Amino acid sequence: MGKNIILIGFMGTGKSTIGIKLAERLKMQFVDMDREIEKLTGMSIPMLFKKHGEIRFRSEEQLMSQKLGQRSNLVIATGGGVVLNSENVEALRNSGILICLDADPGVILARVNRKKGSRPLLKKNLGAEDIEKMLNDREDYYALADYRIDTSGKEMDKIVQEIIQLVKKTNNRRVG
Ligand code: S3P
Repeated sequence: MGKNIILIGFMGTGKSTIGIKLAERLKMQFVDMDREIEKLTGMSIPMLFKKHGEIRFRSEEQLMSQKLGQRSNLVIATGGGVVLNSENVEALRNSGILICLDADPGVILARVNRKKGSRPLLKKNLGAEDIEKMLNDREDYYALADYRIDTSGKEMDKIVQEIIQLVKKTNNRRVG
């Protein structure tokens, strides 16, 4: 059975956009974890945070990590905070390869500003220095990835191609 490809990384690093393209190229199914949580709870992520708080969201995220960790042949775009729970990381890692997408704080800021209001953890007048701080706080968690790819200033096709090469390399190693 085909291993999953799991994209982790901070908000605005392109996990969903790249995941969709990658799945298309590899003829795999794409799953966006936050969208699955939205379907399951019948609430948007901001609404879930607002009505029930971050703790409830994290518990839905944990359930979803366990559930998707049982499946195969998926490209999974995770939420940026999925790595904060070691059980999530373990479940996902056991199902495939963990790839972290990175980007510079300025690039992240520009991307998240395009979709204002969809990310409850980001304050209104967010600056690049706020993102830099959050990135630093989370660095040890993102470092748990099998591979990391810097997406800043790179074309999407190039990033997708890089991931495909990494996956091939890993699969060959597993066989050989
Ligand atoms: C979060 C990232 C979001 C979403 C939630 C919490 C985080 O997903 O899961 O708002 O803790 O970094 P994206 O990374 O897709 O924005």
